[in-house]
Amino acid sequence: MQKINLGNSGLSASRVALGVMRITKLDHKQAVNLLDSAYNAGVNFFDNADIYGDGEAEKIFGAALKYASFKRSDVLVQTKTGIVPGHRYDFSKQHILESVDASLKRLQLDYVDTLLLHRPDVLMEPDEIAEAFLTLQNSGKVRQFGVSNFNPMQVELLQQAVPQKLIANQLQLSLMHTGMIDAGLHTNMTDDRSVNHDGAILEYSRLHKMTIQAWSPFQYGFFAGVFIDNPKFPDLNAKLHELADKYDTNVNAVAAAWILRIPANTQVIAGTTNANRIAQVAEADKAKLTREEWYSLYLAAGNDLP
Ligand SMILES: NC(=O)c1ccc[n+]([C@@H]2O[C@H](COP(=O)([O-])OP(=O)(O)OC[C@H]3O[C@@H](n4cnc5c(N)ncnc54)[C@H](OP(=O)(O)O)[C@@H]3O)[C@@H](O)[C@H]2O)c1
Repeated sequence: MQKINLGNSGLSASRVALGVMRITKLDHKQAVNLLDSAYNAGVNFFDNADIYGDGEAEKIFGAALKYASFKRSDVLVQTKTGIVPGHRYDFSKQHILESVDASLKRLQLDYVDTLLLHRPDVLMEPDEIAEAFLTLQNSGKVRQFGVSNFNPMQVELLQQAVPQKLIANQLQLSLMHTGMIDAGLHTNMTDDRSVNHDGAILEYSRLHKMTIQAWSPFQYGFFAGVFIDNPKFPDLNAKLHELADKYDTNVNAVAAAWILRIPANTQVIAGTTNANRIAQVAEADKAKLTREEWYSLYLAAGNDLP
C-alpha cells in the first residue's frame, strides 16, 4: 500500500489506517488477528483515543500489539486526549500530561508516534498546551502532534503558540459526509450546500500541509450506520459496484479510494473489527479513480454540481 509523509513530518504512514474505537467487542485472540491482518495488508498506522471504551480500547490494542507478528517499531501508534467522560473538554496542561501517562500505561508503550487533541476545548489556553506539548516531546513520550475536529482558526490559535508543526486534523469525511467539499463547490451561491460549516478546512489543510485523517469513512450521518450495500443508497451502491468490477476490487476499497483521491495528503481511518474487511479496504490503491469517476460517485451520493 502507498504510504504518505504524514503532515510533512517525516513519519511514513499507510494511507489506510486502522481505528480501534470498536475493538472492545473483540477478545484478545481476535484483536491480535485483526492487527496482524491489517499489517499484512500494508497498514502500519493505528488510531486510538483515551476515551474509546473508557480506556478499554487502548488496553485491548496494547495487549494485542505485544502478541502481534510485527514489532512495535514497525508501526505508528496514535492516540488522542482532551475529551473527558461526561461530555466536556479539557486541554489543561495537567489533564493532557496525566491522560498521556494513563494512555501509555494502558497501551503498554513508552511513546506514541502522534497525539491528537480530540475535540476543540473552548476554554483552551494555547500557551498552556504548548507547555504540555514541550514536556511530552522532551520526555520522548510523543513524537508528533495534531488535532481533530478543529476548524482553521482553531488550528491557527493553537499553532501560533506551539513550537511543533501540527501535522494532522482528523475530521469526519466520507462519500456520505462531504460538507468540507460541498461548500467549496457551491461558493458564491445561496443554496444549503453553499453554507460553509467548516471554515474551508479542506483548503486550509492543503495550504498548511496538514494531513486530513478521515474518520467514519463508511458511515452516513453521525454513526447512523454503514452506507455500503445499504438499500437506502441504491445509486451510490450501484456506482460503487460498477467501479469495483472495473478495478477488480471491492466496494469498500472504492469508497476508500474516493477519499484518498482528495489531494490533502489524505488518510482513511477504517474502524472495522473484521480481519477480512480491513484487508479489503487496504486494496484502495487498486481503484485509480479518474476525475469523471470521482465526480460521478459524488453525484451518486445525492449531491449536485452547479
Ligand atoms: N476523531 C473523532 O472524533 C472520531 C470519531 C469517530 C471515529 N474516529 C476514529 O475513526 C475510526 C473509524 O470510525 P468508524 O468505526 O465509525 O468507521 P467506519 O469504518 O466507517 O465504520 C466501521 C463500522 O461499520 C461496520 N460495517 C458494517 N459493514 C461494513 C462495511 N461493508 N464496510 C465497512 N464497515 C462496515 C463495521 O463492522 P465490522 O467491525 O463488523 O466490520 C464497524 O462497526 C474509529 O475507530 C476511530 O479511530 C474518530
